[in-house]
Amino acid sequence: VVGRLNEQSGADRASPSLGGGPYAYARFGNPTVDAVEAQLATVDGGGWTCLTASGMSAIDAALSALQPHGRGRPWMFPDELYPGTRSYAERVVVGLRGTVVAWAPVSELAAEDLSAFAGRLGRERPAVLFLESMSNPFLHEPALERLVAIAHEHDVAVVVDNTMATHVRCQPLALGADVVVTSATKYLGGHGDLMAGVVAGHDRELGERVRRYRASVGSILNPFDAYALGGYLESFALRFGRQSATAAELAALLAGRPEVAQVWYPAPAPGLPGGGVVTFRLRGATPEVRTEAVRAFLARTEGSLPYTASFGAIESSVVDLATLSGQPGSEGVLRLSVGLEDPHEIVEALDRGLRTTEGVPG
Ligand SMILES: Cc1ncc(COP(=O)(O)O)c(C=O)c1O
Repeated sequence: VVGRLNEQSGADRASPSLGGGPYAYARFGNPTVDAVEAQLATVDGGGWTCLTASGMSAIDAALSALQPHGRGRPWMFPDELYPGTRSYAERVVVGLRGTVVAWAPVSELAAEDLSAFAGRLGRERPAVLFLESMSNPFLHEPALERLVAIAHEHDVAVVVDNTMATHVRCQPLALGADVVVTSATKYLGGHGDLMAGVVAGHDRELGERVRRYRASVGSILNPFDAYALGGYLESFALRFGRQSATAAELAALLAGRPEVAQVWYPAPAPGLPGGGVVTFRLRGATPEVRTEAVRAFLARTEGSLPYTASFGAIESSVVDLATLSGQPGSEGVLRLSVGLEDPHEIVEALDRGLRTTEGVPG
């Protein structure tokens, strides 16, 4: 049940909270935001939950609150990472705050034998390790519980970005992570019309630091988006289940298409939906041929499959990785976000996009 919207920027004169109460000024706290945090508290399973203005501000609040931990030691990020977080690490962590960043090869993080990674932690002695529970856009899932255990042996605090997997597939706090961050702009909101971020953790003192940081920099979620998010959360599990079921079908269908060279979708696990994102690479011997294949796909799907940089919404969309990240080697890669349409509609759109010759059914 969604509470009332309270959009006041300051408590009125009659309010007993005027003069230092939690709602005296909306940058410090707001009853609508608190109500949605209470709704989310059971989701991540931590001792505290804090809503922020976007996924990036959630990452910023979590990492900033951890700044005193192991001061002077480097921070470690995977070398394959959501580009916004990579840019935060480079521009803010290194560029503005002067904290050294070490990049961990994702091949070490994803290896069955984690001894090379353990050796790296021992040598580089980071204070903080940032991980994604499911990587964007290739949907790799590291062995989180084992990685966290190794990190803790080395006194490394672990922050996990759970945006792609969501709490339905992965519960980082239950696996030992210190902090979990989620961009609620994606699946949790799910309607492509708001931005929000969630930070949650076990340690109360850390939670207080996150709250104080959020108040200092003014990154609390605005009450309108909190109110909308509260409503959308009610249908989240249904949406994610349906998006995942359709996406799994489409991943299998794409894998059987001659125009598709490779498909990435999380391994099936009983009772664990894989999410609504399917990443695939179009066939083509050279980057130029693959770039042209993407251009043709996008031209043919225009009008039936929106082109959007985001994912997780009820409306299906597609984006090409070369435009999104600019990374060399990403030519030909498309990231499909599956929505709630009739699956046949999405199949038809993909079919249109993949036809190598106009008019010939794929
Ligand atoms: C994995 C991941 N983390 C964090 C973010 C940042 O979230 P926001 O755009 O809400 O700031 C994104 C956005 O695409 C993302 O994909």
